[in-house]
Amino acid sequence: MQNTKTFTGYDTVIDLSDDDAEITHVGRGTPCGEYLRRYWQPIYLEDQLDDLPKLIKVLGEELVLFRDKSGDTGLLHKHCAHRGASLEYGIIADHGLVCCYHGWNFAVDGSLIKAGSEPENSPIHKKVVQGAYPTHEFGGIIFAYLGPTESIPAFPVFDTLEDKNLERIPFVVTTHCNWLQVFENTQDPIHVLHLHARSSGVQFGVASGVDQIIDYENTPLGMINVQTRQVEDHVWVRTTETILPNMNQGGAIWEEAESEKFFQRSAFTRWMVPVDNFETMTIGWRIFSKELDPRDQGDRKKIGVEAIDFVGQTKDERGYEESQRYPGDYEAQVSQRPIAIHKMENPAMSDRGVMKVRRLLRNQIRALKGKQEPSQYIQNGRGTISTYQQDTVVRAVLDEENKQSYSKALVKHILNSKDETEEKRRADLELHCRELLSKLN
Ligand code: FES
Ligand SMILES: [Fe+2]
Repeated sequence: MQNTKTFTGYDTVIDLSDDDAEITHVGRGTPCGEYLRRYWQPIYLEDQLDDLPKLIKVLGEELVLFRDKSGDTGLLHKHCAHRGASLEYGIIADHGLVCCYHGWNFAVDGSLIKAGSEPENSPIHKKVVQGAYPTHEFGGIIFAYLGPTESIPAFPVFDTLEDKNLERIPFVVTTHCNWLQVFENTQDPIHVLHLHARSSGVQFGVASGVDQIIDYENTPLGMINVQTRQVEDHVWVRTTETILPNMNQGGAIWEEAESEKFFQRSAFTRWMVPVDNFETMTIGWRIFSKELDPRDQGDRKKIGVEAIDFVGQTKDERGYEESQRYPGDYEAQVSQRPIAIHKMENPAMSDRGVMKVRRLLRNQIRALKGKQEPSQYIQNGRGTISTYQQDTVVRAVLDEENKQSYSKALVKHILNSKDETEEKRRADLELHCRELLSKLN
């Protein structure tokens, strides 16, 4: 039926009062903030840390990060427990940090080593503790755990970070909007066709502009979307992964799907960490190998602090006019408002993935509100966490129906192979795909 209502500018109600705080707000004591605090979060690149303390903000908390002279990393509340001076002006000590105002020396765990000019035997040493959070360094990134100490999980290492032969370059870029907009974008695969191919010209690989069948599956860690495309005489099945609470993994950025490959893994593994309700750090690794980037389109020199080697991810990389002519993820996400108002949206069929991410999040957040601690990652036999992002390309021409059943069977196989080694998952998948194809042809 034709919509007869037109020129509704005056009648359209703009109501910004409900910003779905349950899944967008991240401060201490908020439902979503408490949920995110149950997991290790990346907060800073090791290379960014020098001989000065750094004032940073994570999940709405102002904190001071530093490395003491013994090499230990500390993450303390900003304001000194004595009388509140900021520890960003502190002096780095052999052990811990010394507040500039009266010389109180706090260890990396927040304990008071020496209270300035107070007598050595003063009870103040036992009484006062500076707020501190544990940190862990991995692959050039500093992680922190901002939750209750009794719930601290083991530090998770994902299977895509196991292969020592891959080159992983840490990066961090800031998006000036709520974290959920950045996070849920991964489960919005239809935007790749529009934003990254039709609206702005092909930004990420010729094959991204090809029509696709899209499906969504739960995984033990969250969800994947399954994109199945016929690219000339090859069928390409890409799974792009969301790992709860705030992580994702995606395949080769300039995938052309022009040769066979099986279970090709991530080109990036990254977290969307809220700085506060209105700003987000995307922090993780760009991953390089000959297989992931056969034409050498990636640029290692462009990866680091506020820099990444694919277009449209940061505020200052281009002028306003260029960003209007060729908008990227940054422009699309930030312009959804500082916090997108879910009540004012008109979700359609192609938003199923985004709605699913929100639902998964909300369920976990509500469970925690009901005192049920969120499920932590289960390790495989090798002590890592099996994940489900991959690209598989086979030489075949399939009709719509066969494409769909092939991709469904392939994804089922990937989900079932989680306990195997990477090599075995890959080899088994190849066998399985060939078997499937022989049945379909
Ligand atoms: S305010 Fe920090 S030592 Fe006094
Ligand atoms: Fe995008």
